[in-house]
Amino acid sequence: MTNLQVRRVRFDLAGDDVPFNWNPQRPAFAMQCNLITFFAPGFEKMIVDATREAIPLMRDPRQVEEANAYLRQEAQHSAAHMSHFRALARRWPGLQETLDEVIASYDRLTATKPLAWRLAYTAVIENTFTPYFKVFLDHEDKLFAPGDERVASLFIWHFCEEIEHRGSALMVYDAAHGDFLYRVRTIPAVVRHLGEVLSIVSRGFQTHVPAADGGHFGRLLPDGLTPRSMLAAARSARRMTEPGQATYAGVPKKEMLAMLTGLVQSQGPSHDPADENLPPLAGQWFDRYEQEPKCAARWYSVGVGRR
Ligand SMILES: [Fe+2]
Ligand SMILES: [Fe+2]
Repeated sequence: MTNLQVRRVRFDLAGDDVPFNWNPQRPAFAMQCNLITFFAPGFEKMIVDATREAIPLMRDPRQVEEANAYLRQEAQHSAAHMSHFRALARRWPGLQETLDEVIASYDRLTATKPLAWRLAYTAVIENTFTPYFKVFLDHEDKLFAPGDERVASLFIWHFCEEIEHRGSALMVYDAAHGDFLYRVRTIPAVVRHLGEVLSIVSRGFQTHVPAADGGHFGRLLPDGLTPRSMLAAARSARRMTEPGQATYAGVPKKEMLAMLTGLVQSQGPSHDPADENLPPLAGQWFDRYEQEPKCAARWYSVGVGRR
């Protein structure tokens, strides 16, 4: 029986006061999370479609059960990010154009790429999440706690569940296709596509959200994944923020190195997501949710109290 749990969390994002720059102490991190809100609905829709297509190819009923729970988790993520998106689009309606462009880009992949490629794309990205999100969750006190509680709670939940289903995308890829070299060969195209999404979102934020509301922080996201655009984003960060406001300010070098090593290893032939080093916050989150599910939407004020 799969251990994955599908949690339906109602986030408190119906108001029209959700800030664009939801953590003013770390605008670059706030933008990175906003980027995920724009990336998630398109990506997660592609995951759900590809996984549904892959399930009939899977032989082991336990794997089928896990795949079903995984795609249901992803569908919940997508719905929650849509509620965050709608909160932003109520105030800055032009953002609808940005979301539509990202979704169209993913729909093109679903329409034109073979199933094996879409499953490989998904496994390549989902494999990076545990080392990547571990740093965020290990530094929750700096990255989430000072921000808007409603938005912070959404991202903490999503990152914890990504860690919970960390092996599922690779499991589905291996069960339905399984060719390691094919998966590795998709990486350059995955990076190019992520660059395209980054560029849409970075430009969209700057175009549709006035600077007075933080739209200019869109420049902290690189306009594509090329060395030139990354350098330009780093230059913008130096100009627009204080050194202590960088996403990873205060994260020890050793942890950054472990993250980078983890990202590379996550693509290797013998990578087993079950062996990953997990952030303690993920375990605490699942335990606390068991006692008080409402804590998911209000992590800092509901349940057993502030940690
Ligand atoms: Fe997700
Ligand atoms: Fe996921």
